[in-house]
Amino acid sequence: MKRTKVLVHGVLGRMGQEVLRAVCRDPELEAVAGVDIKGAMKDLSLPDGSGSIPFSSNLESMIKQSRPDVMVDFTNAEATILAARTAIKHGVALVIGTTGISNADLKEIEDLCRKRKVGAVVAPNFAIAGVLMMHLAKISARFFDYAEIIELHHEQKLDAPSGTAIATARDMREARGKDFIHTAAKKENVTGSRGGELGGIALHAVRMPGLLAHQEVILGAPGQTLRIRLDQINREAFMPGVTLAIKKAVELKEAVFGLDKLLGI
Ligand SMILES: NC(=O)c1ccc[n+]([C@@H]2O[C@H](COP(=O)([O-])OP(=O)(O)OC[C@H]3O[C@@H](n4cnc5c(N)ncnc54)[C@H](O)[C@@H]3O)[C@@H](O)[C@H]2O)c1
Repeated sequence: MKRTKVLVHGVLGRMGQEVLRAVCRDPELEAVAGVDIKGAMKDLSLPDGSGSIPFSSNLESMIKQSRPDVMVDFTNAEATILAARTAIKHGVALVIGTTGISNADLKEIEDLCRKRKVGAVVAPNFAIAGVLMMHLAKISARFFDYAEIIELHHEQKLDAPSGTAIATARDMREARGKDFIHTAAKKENVTGSRGGELGGIALHAVRMPGLLAHQEVILGAPGQTLRIRLDQINREAFMPGVTLAIKKAVELKEAVFGLDKLLGI
């Protein structure tokens, strides 16, 4: 069986390390290289003790050397677009989990993939429970006039609100066909108390240690509320989605946005 060769971009990061472990565990996948801006070594030991893979901070040289089928990227929005351009140029499929990527950059990735017939899966949330939470929020959206989202993450998360919260709000707004009713405070005693606002949905971000990735969607109507709650307690939660995306990305000839498209929901 031919294994799919994977390069991990951002390999020294929290998600990058988890991805490397997941790739090593999967008999259909093979880790062939690691790239990260920090770190000056030439090799990286594999977490399962099976050997080592070449490492560099230079993506293009690693692609030329290791000839991966797929690049998995968990870095930051600025790094992702540069890496995506390089990978697509070399015909390397993409799995992008980095959040906070601008619409213009997403559009560029979509256009480049289509032009070069390169597959990509871009998803703000690779956890199956997260995708189902968004799906349920979307289904529920048209039955309620009020909705708010509270997202809670670890204190080192750079962007706020989370990519998942933004995507959830956008999907809910789209499913409803109009903005939710947003009640601004008549007298805001502390600035920002009502959170951000997207499509009439107030968005609140909590950042502190002890959390990983959590979100609550609250929908309201007279006399009733519906709460949809997601808790991801470790990064392993994302890995079945990431490995599925790696296997699908090599078969695609264009970019797909959202894990839901791969799950058939
Ligand atoms: N889609 C999902 O399901 C999901 C899940 C968790 C995290 N994320 C997102 O993944 C991203 C990374 O999260 P993390 O917790 O692993 O962060 P992290 O800071 O632990 O890791 C990021 C890594 O990227 C590296 N990096 C930064 N700039 C680089 C560059 N120019 N070239 C190469 N490497 C570079 C850093 O050195 C670091 O090792 C964030 O955007 C986060 O929101 C997405």
